[in-house]
Amino acid sequence: MTLQDSPFLRACKRLPVSHTPVWFMRQAGRSLPEYRKLREGVAMLDACARPDMIVEITMQPVRRYGVDAAIFFSDIVVPLKAIGIDLDIKPGVGPVVAEPIRDLAAVNRLRALEPDDVPYVTAAVGALTGELGDRPLIGFAGGPFTLASYLIEGGPSKNHEHTKALMYGEPDVWAELMQRLSAIALDFLRVQIAAGASAVQLFDSWVGALSAEDYRASVLPYTSWIFEQLGELDVPRIHFGVGTGELLSLLSEAGPDVVGVDWRVPLDKAVQRVQPGTALQGNLDPATLFAPWSVVAERTDAVLSSAKAADGHVFNLGHGVLPTTDPAVLERLVDYVHEKTAR
Ligand code: CP3
Repeated sequence: MTLQDSPFLRACKRLPVSHTPVWFMRQAGRSLPEYRKLREGVAMLDACARPDMIVEITMQPVRRYGVDAAIFFSDIVVPLKAIGIDLDIKPGVGPVVAEPIRDLAAVNRLRALEPDDVPYVTAAVGALTGELGDRPLIGFAGGPFTLASYLIEGGPSKNHEHTKALMYGEPDVWAELMQRLSAIALDFLRVQIAAGASAVQLFDSWVGALSAEDYRASVLPYTSWIFEQLGELDVPRIHFGVGTGELLSLLSEAGPDVVGVDWRVPLDKAVQRVQPGTALQGNLDPATLFAPWSVVAERTDAVLSSAKAADGHVFNLGHGVLPTTDPAVLERLVDYVHEKTAR
């Protein structure tokens, strides 16, 4: 098999596959004992700047689960840190920004990302593509709304009130911020693609906080620009956000090849909301994995059956693997999907 014949890349391109490909958002990380051991005494953002750790952590779930794609180990805030923003990832909390960005002067200090800012990304992607062989590596970046929310709120937020206040109250500052963050996200993806990543996912995780009208006016123009620019690079583009049932048609309008769906919308309904010729990714509720196996199997069957309506399907969870998930269940799930869909 060659990389281009891999079930994951074929499914993204809506070509027939030997089995439905599987990977999991957050497949690397705290659910794996080998990850927790390796990370002992190393801060998250330090780990993200060390090619040896990036390679090992990216490979851990590939070895353990036999997933059909690897996802690059990093974080959506890595490019922000790389351009000099004072931020940290606090265990159990998430990204925390020392000085929240709330005015034009602060926005204007956000500079562009250069490949030389993230040499460890280039080095790690290069090493990984060698090690992965015909298994694709997915590169990723945070979407502009999600990055803006961390920068404006100063950390994780339930209501995104400062973000919305800026979006509604100072549209010019918002536009400048979104342009700069979109360019940073695009350049972070370009670095990964140039080094060998064979697909990319834009995680605009928190856009589900917006109404369709606000998303269309204040986010869609920027994500559309990112996907348009990526179109020249000829790698499948995946777009995902949480709680986006009401936004799926707009996420699709932004122009990705694949739309990631959370667990709230069955895939046969999601098909009706995306543009024709769009593949779907998803969408087993990650909390299902805590129920007895018979339930996991039944819910997985429902996802696979619903996915028959889709033009191309990549099996995934509806959001990331929860940190206390039993890895044995994920291992069994990969085998189950492969066996059930073998053609
Ligand atoms: O396996 C993978 O999916 C690849 C690695 C990955 C991480 N972060 C590693 C990580 C990816 C794709 C991300 C993206 C990311 N980071 C997103 C978008 C995806 C999503 O979940 O919607 C977001 C919103 C972030 C911001 C962020 N970083 C959060 C919310 C957290 C969790 C905070 C916590 O401790 O609960 C982080 C930290 C983080 N990113 C960890 C990992 C493995 C945990 C750090 C640790 O081990 O201490």
